[in-house]
Amino acid sequence: MEAWGRAIGSAAAAPLFLALDGPLGAGKSVLARSIARGVGVTGPVPSPTYTLVQIYEPREGRRLIHMDLYRLDHADDVLELGWDDIVADPDALVVVEWAARAGPHLPRDRWSVALGPVEGAPSLRHVEWHSVGRPPALPAPAGTDPAVP
Ligand SMILES: Nc1ncnc2c1ncn2[C@@H]1O[C@H](COP(=O)(O)OP(=O)(O)O)[C@@H](O)[C@H]1O
Ligand SMILES: [Mg+2]
Repeated sequence: MEAWGRAIGSAAAAPLFLALDGPLGAGKSVLARSIARGVGVTGPVPSPTYTLVQIYEPREGRRLIHMDLYRLDHADDVLELGWDDIVADPDALVVVEWAARAGPHLPRDRWSVALGPVEGAPSLRHVEWHSVGRPPALPAPAGTDPAVP
């Protein structure tokens, strides 16, 4: 999971929107933090559970926008977080935990990643990912076929 995140962060072309979903503890923040490392963020990458959005720009013209919509009450509330500018940002890699909560506001072109536990294997995660619309290519986890939109 960490290697995949680093590969996404260092190689994925912006603009890219990654919608992460799955239950608490599924590994959404682990993946998001690894993406941040790949982008070049060296400091702490706290879960934006309370701030809802954290923006990093470790190098000029390369932004990581990390969101966690767990505490969102209504899908429309994302609009108050600057959502329209975030999804239209040409330089941003946007990684959103609990993305389904944004409902109709999710951008047309995106990658959807569903994470879940594997019964009886606490260190393993079930991961399913697919493109919606025509997002840019996403690096594939090691040992799998390249994912193309
Ligand atoms: N293969 C794995 N992938 C991701 N997380 C894992 C894995 N194995 C164990 N974990 C642990 O599961 C927890 C996932 O937590 P977190 O990423 O915060 O979940 P979420 O953000 O989905 O609620 C972490 O404590 C992490 O160390
Ligand atoms: Mg989380």
